[in-house]
Amino acid sequence: MSGGTGTPQDVAAEAARRRTFAVISHPDAGKSTLTEALALHAAAIEEAGAVHGKAGRRGVRSDWMDIERSRGISITSSVLRFEYGGALLNLLDTPGHADFSEDTYRVLAAVDGAIMLLDSAKGLEAQTLKLFDVCRHRRIPVITFVNKWDRPGREALELLDEVEQRIGLHPAPLNWPVGIAGDFRGLIDRAGGAFTRFLRTPGGATRAIAEHVTAEEAAEQEGETWETAVEELALLEEIGATLDMDAFAAGTCTPVLFGAALPNFGVEALLEAVCRLAPAPAARADSGGRERPVSAPFSGQVFKVQAGMDRAHRDRLAFIRVCSGRFERGMSLTHAPTGRPLATKYAQTIFGRDRSTLDAAYPGDVIGLPNASGLTVGDTLYARTPVSFPPIPAFAPEHFMVVRASDNSRAKQFRRGMDQLDSEGVVQVLRSDLRGDQAPVLAAVGPLQFDVVTARMAEEFNAPVELTRLDYSTARITDKESAQTLTGRRGVEVLTRTLDGSLLAVFIDKWRLRAIEREHPGLTLTPMLAAGVPD
Ligand code: G4P
Repeated sequence: MSGGTGTPQDVAAEAARRRTFAVISHPDAGKSTLTEALALHAAAIEEAGAVHGKAGRRGVRSDWMDIERSRGISITSSVLRFEYGGALLNLLDTPGHADFSEDTYRVLAAVDGAIMLLDSAKGLEAQTLKLFDVCRHRRIPVITFVNKWDRPGREALELLDEVEQRIGLHPAPLNWPVGIAGDFRGLIDRAGGAFTRFLRTPGGATRAIAEHVTAEEAAEQEGETWETAVEELALLEEIGATLDMDAFAAGTCTPVLFGAALPNFGVEALLEAVCRLAPAPAARADSGGRERPVSAPFSGQVFKVQAGMDRAHRDRLAFIRVCSGRFERGMSLTHAPTGRPLATKYAQTIFGRDRSTLDAAYPGDVIGLPNASGLTVGDTLYARTPVSFPPIPAFAPEHFMVVRASDNSRAKQFRRGMDQLDSEGVVQVLRSDLRGDQAPVLAAVGPLQFDVVTARMAEEFNAPVELTRLDYSTARITDKESAQTLTGRRGVEVLTRTLDGSLLAVFIDKWRLRAIEREHPGLTLTPMLAAGVPD
């Protein structure tokens, strides 16, 4: 990650060669397999399987947390980085389960582009839709990869139609499959017309054999299947399914590639598309709307705080996305919310489960700061010229629980645990005057978040907790004046977010909310970010 001198020109050049992105998909579409295949092609790892594969799959999950193991879900994130043809790619992992969509949202706040991965047999699925909605909200350009073409699936044109109709993205295929899903013969590159033949390799543990064939040879050898593909390509031209870079940057057009991640076919074309099309880190607007160019002095934003990533590193790691400037280990940074200095002697890179010391980083890179207590998701860090980026908005919670320490003598540990889980963003912790400090209210997007709280409070903070469900399901941001009107009314309660002191009004259901809004039209009741489009 080192290299360069840190001059503005140097920083701009380093930023220009970086691509920081995430893969969004429904569980089982092949995200882990694709990640392996991408890294394999970029030769970051020697053999598929070393990072995410069957044997090593635990490596990308935090293997200390039993609930992850027992439920087979991935909660923790890591970053994969690899070089490819002069570009430097940072691939940020996102949790797969819908209950952790807020975590995913935070990761998406740190990327410049995304790959939307579809299973050729299933097309757009619930979780893909939700995650895509986040991309749309953040205006993240999306490249689509239709996976598993080696298995029976739907028709290519039908899948494109679904993307256009359901999410309003104009699809622009960069390559086109010869042979229906399940009878995959190869891919035609739309720009150059060359054909790459798909030859299976057993087990998929090595690169697929990709044979390059001229169009004439392919026409002769593939016969009718080839004809069909050529007709479909002509149709694409007719309907104008071509890439418009401005529309891609604006998030209204998506380049589409086909392939099969398991036998590593079509993955190289995807890598090339990411390098060629996905945006490099660019100037970022601060809270006042002023843009901070990538070549400005160092600035970064915390997008994730994670404790106990694995047994070997039982600490608290803050993930920081570099937004501008050159980061050098040991440099002193300022924590924007408090103005306090922050030492960075132990800065790390995070590669899968492994961490190593990091010496320098540039815009688009992710730095890990261990034991950085006091860092909260959304915080800005800077060097020299002050800056503060807008906070990463919280999702509207839909599940609420009162939490108490099972054993009153462990009040200190209980408070410490609550503070930490709150600042990590594991759940939102809310204070209620009614219940006092011993019984805060936990607010979550998905109920699995409560399981994480229960497990971590017992194991990590040695303060087992008891949870009692509250019947609220809808939340709005409110202010002091409106709170006075709301307090004491049936089916509503006003709570204070401990993290930033803002007020949250929670309602039994949306009917109660609407009735109150009708009764008092002047009240401040601002909707929060929804957890995604309805299923
Ligand atoms: P996820 O991370 O998105 O949840 O998906 P993952 O990569 O674990 O893939 C889900 C399943 O789909 C795996 O099979 C995987 O081997 C398979 N798969 C992924 N890409 C392709 C592809 O291009 N072609 C084919 N035919 N299969 C693919 P599994 O049987 O559920 O797990 P495993 O026992 O193979 O690990």
